[in-house]
Amino acid sequence: MPNLQDRLSLPAFEAANRVFMAPMTRMRAPEPADAPTELHQEYYRQRAGAGLIVTEGTQISLEGKGYSGAPGIYTDDQVAAWRKVTDTVHEAGGRIAVQLWHVGRITHPDVHGGEPGVSASALPFRGRTNIKDAAGNVISVSAPTPRELRVDEVPRLLEDYRRATRNARAAGFDMVEIHGANGYLLQQFMSISSNVREDRYGGSLENRARLPLEVVDAVIGEWDAAHVGMRLSPLIKFEGLDDADGKEMGVYMAGRLADRSVGYFHLCEPDWAGGPSLDDNFRTALRDRFPGIIIAAGNYDADKATRVLEGGWADAIAFGRPFIANPDLPARLATGAELNSVDFDRVYGGDAAGYTDYPVLQPTR
Ligand SMILES: Cc1cc2nc3c(=O)[nH]c(=O)nc-3n(C[C@H](O)[C@H](O)[C@H](O)COP(=O)(O)O)c2cc1C
Repeated sequence: MPNLQDRLSLPAFEAANRVFMAPMTRMRAPEPADAPTELHQEYYRQRAGAGLIVTEGTQISLEGKGYSGAPGIYTDDQVAAWRKVTDTVHEAGGRIAVQLWHVGRITHPDVHGGEPGVSASALPFRGRTNIKDAAGNVISVSAPTPRELRVDEVPRLLEDYRRATRNARAAGFDMVEIHGANGYLLQQFMSISSNVREDRYGGSLENRARLPLEVVDAVIGEWDAAHVGMRLSPLIKFEGLDDADGKEMGVYMAGRLADRSVGYFHLCEPDWAGGPSLDDNFRTALRDRFPGIIIAAGNYDADKATRVLEGGWADAIAFGRPFIANPDLPARLATGAELNSVDFDRVYGGDAAGYTDYPVLQPTR
């Protein structure tokens, strides 16, 4: 039976353990450069004991930005800054993938020069994002109605993903993860709540999956399938989404990702954000369609991790909030040590406080 401490062979590399770090937006990249800093180097270095770190969502273009303080990977300066992060993590013995993010409609015109966000359809919806006010404080604002992405813009969007992938390679990442979860652009295309298009990108389930799969193919074309993972969150009720066919879409996408032999399928379970707990039948249906590496994330502790690993439903577990407060989480899980709790007032934005100042276990003699 596999356990969290076991090594794991992914198509692209061998991970030292199965305690992965889930992607988490922390909003500490200064604008307008939107590049990581020495603070990010230290934050990720501290967490290099993870079998794989998946970075915070990182926008592929200015259009794809939704949150002040989220970093990008589309300028030379951003690539150079990420190179320092990946070098630091590699020197500490870790592995790191960058999460390629386009927020779609979860944005505010203030973060990209007054332009509205783009989405599958121009539907009003209930969703919020976090931006900074004139004094630099993080504030929560409503995301206004987006404009519909035109078919003639798709090649440019795919090129944005390709450029981000080239940049990720140049920055020394071990893999890229395509963010298809949590109600952002690619899920806005997959979801009947946000996609009412009547062209080849809307309507049937296959049509709604078309753009996400074109993105997967573009990214694979720029690197190779082994170095490309995808994150999906079927059944999530988030940012105005609530789909009757979420399970079907999840199973369909698992099959299409298997056809392409991608490096991993990252299952973002919905119960951390108001969705249901996944049942074992659905986990089995996903596993049947996707025989490769499955990473599961969402409300895991050691017991839930053991059950899901032993059930064969996942090969690694990604931990989110526990990694915010416990940089040495793999060591703590291995010994059953107590976990630090998260300072939720200091999750988004700010400085080293609540970011790089969580205590690690002291060695016992
Ligand atoms: C502060 C915070 C930021 C997050 N940012 C992202 C993100 O950028 N991309 C993403 O796919 N998920 C994001 N998530 C979701 C996490 O990756 C993870 O799925 C979720 O926290 C559930 O795991 P947990 O219960 O171990 O925290 C975020 C979650 C938190 C708490």
